[in-house]
Order: sequence, then C-alpha cells, then structure tokens
Amino acid sequence: MAESALADPTFAPLLAPALDSVLHIEARAYDHPWTRTHFLDALASGYEAQMLVRDGAVLGYFVAMQGVGEAHLLNITVAPEHQGQGHARTLMAALKRWAMQVAAQRIWLEVRVSNTRAIRLYEGLGFERVNVRKDYYPGLGPAREDALVMYCPLDESEHP
Ligand SMILES: CC(C)(COP(=O)(O)OP(=O)(O)OC[C@H]1O[C@@H](n2cnc3c(N)ncnc32)[C@H](O)[C@@H]1OP(=O)(O)O)[C@@H](O)C(=O)NCCC(=O)NCCS
Repeated sequence: MAESALADPTFAPLLAPALDSVLHIEARAYDHPWTRTHFLDALASGYEAQMLVRDGAVLGYFVAMQGVGEAHLLNITVAPEHQGQGHARTLMAALKRWAMQVAAQRIWLEVRVSNTRAIRLYEGLGFERVNVRKDYYPGLGPAREDALVMYCPLDESEHP
C-alpha cells in the first residue's frame, strides 16, 4: 500500500516497553547502534525521547538532552523501510517544538562526516557546520571517524 493511503503518524513518548521495537530499528539503521543500556540511561536521565508511530508500528524516534539554554540531539533514526518519506523532517519539527518549549536558544548535534543523508537533512532545516571533532566515532575497522558539529539557532519570536 502507498504510504499516502495510510493513517497519519502520531507521536508517543519513547518508553521502556517500546525498546524491543526501537532496538530492532537501531540494529538495522546503524553499524554502531545504541544498546538497551544507552536508551535506559537516557530515559533514567530524563532526556526527551519521542517516537513516531502508525498503526502500532514505530516509524522513527529521537532522543535529546536539555542543557542551559540549549538542546542537544543525541539520536534520530527512521526505520530503514520507512526512510525517504519525510518522517525525519516530522521528527525534527517535534524536536524543535520541544526545544522551544524548554526555552532553548539553539540545538546542537554531531553527525558522522560520511553521513551525507543526515547532513543534507540538517542543512535543509537551517543547521550550520561549526566544528569537526576528530576521531569522535568508532569506525568499521581500527580507524575512527570524525564528527561534524552542527547547530541551529532558534528564532526568539517562535518561542511560546
Ligand atoms: C538520516 C535519516 C534520519 C533521514 O530520514 P528520512 O525519513 O529518510 O528523511 P526524510 O524523508 O524526512 O528526508 C528529509 C531530508 O533528508 C535528506 N534525505 C533523505 N533521504 C535521502 C537520500 N536517500 N539521499 C540524500 N538525502 C536524503 C534530504 O535532504 C531530505 O529532504 P528532501 O526530501 O527535501 O530532499 C535516516 O536516513 C536514518 O534514520 N538514517 C540512519 C540513522 C542516522 O544516520 N541518523 C542520523 C544520525 S546523526
């Protein structure tokens, strides 16, 4: 069935009972996926975690941390079979709404320099490249991979 014929996706809090579905996505989306412990630690720390669901299926999710006057995106993932349908844009819009609600002035994130899909997504949403963190991520072999640090200022006039 075409995705356009399906019900609209809705947001739900990402909580422990959803972790089996989330970890199944995570394992297929990344060479170095987050573990159950990463997610449980994030939830225990009170980080913001939302998922996009449709008919009981998890389409994607994000996890973000609040800092002083800023928000930090830690994880955004769309299930491989649902990519390319605009779900990441929907998740990023929810991230931005939450960041505004907690009075963040900007959103930070790191992304692998090789992740051109994600970089294109972020740049299309107004994120700017600010720095490169050398050898930030594990690689497939012994060599590590650099992270691009990006940030997006949030417009004061958009704050609730
Ligand atoms: C990166 C990711 C979140 C994008 O999710 P998605 O739902 O496919 O993205 P969307 O359909 O919302 O597309 C949003 C934008 O992403 C970019 N994009 C999406 N698919 C792309 C592709 N195949 N090639 C290049 N850019 C692409 C485009 O800029 C697109 O905007 P456009 O449709 O106006 O061209 C998804 O590919 C993913 O989960 N990847 C694995 C996990 C990951 O890398 N997360 C980011 C870690 S920092």
